[in-house]
Amino acid sequence: MDLKETIERRRSVRHFKPESLPLDDIKEMVRLAGLAPSINNAQLWKFTAVTNKDIINNMSNIVNGKISGMLNAQEDKKGEKVKTTVSHFSTVFTDAPVVIAVQMKPYDAIVDTILEASGLSHDAMNKMRNYPDIQSIGAAIENIMLAATSMGYGCCWLTGLLVAREELEPILGVQEPYKLAACIAVGKPLESLPAREKLPLESIFEVIE
Ligand SMILES: Cc1cc2nc3c(=O)[nH]c(=O)nc-3n(C[C@H](O)[C@H](O)[C@H](O)COP(=O)(O)O)c2cc1C
Repeated sequence: MDLKETIERRRSVRHFKPESLPLDDIKEMVRLAGLAPSINNAQLWKFTAVTNKDIINNMSNIVNGKISGMLNAQEDKKGEKVKTTVSHFSTVFTDAPVVIAVQMKPYDAIVDTILEASGLSHDAMNKMRNYPDIQSIGAAIENIMLAATSMGYGCCWLTGLLVAREELEPILGVQEPYKLAACIAVGKPLESLPAREKLPLESIFEVIE
């Protein structure tokens, strides 16, 4: 599959066949993730593949429990419907044979060394620069998704589960200075999915001459 076709074919896949992935395929996805651009080539990432079904189920239960506890303000029908939807999209990894956890550590920018004298903090500067650390992680995640697609797998980028980040981090072996940034569910798609509707080029592009 060439790159254009891979990009065109990628779709968020949320239902998977139970078959496991060869470890070499997972490693290849992560190798390609590591080739992504990152701020000052800082490569703030680390990846952990979870293939243990009990651990994946446990993660799912933890996320569901957290959501039930958090979104308890509205007990009416509408509230219940929203909660069910949020729970669903936050736990779509439950039947995936692999969940890849993406860890991110803080970025030590060159400018950080003179920030204090200028009355600025790392966080303020990072915000002004529109979070180059998180943008870098996004590039690596997209590489995993495209690699998975080109190898015949389906995947879904996951941040909904981060409502339970603090509870999930020990299970995933995340240690300071790293934080859990996102997860990616990967596996053979259960069904083939139609292309998602995307905005037409004219509405997302303009040229300034
Ligand atoms: C940063 C980010 C976080 C996402 N988190 C979730 C998630 O927690 N659960 C989920 O089901 N989909 C999640 N998605 C997938 C989006 O819903 C999906 O990309 C979008 O609906 C477009 O569909 P497509 O990927 O098939 O083009 C996430 C996507 C991105 C980029």
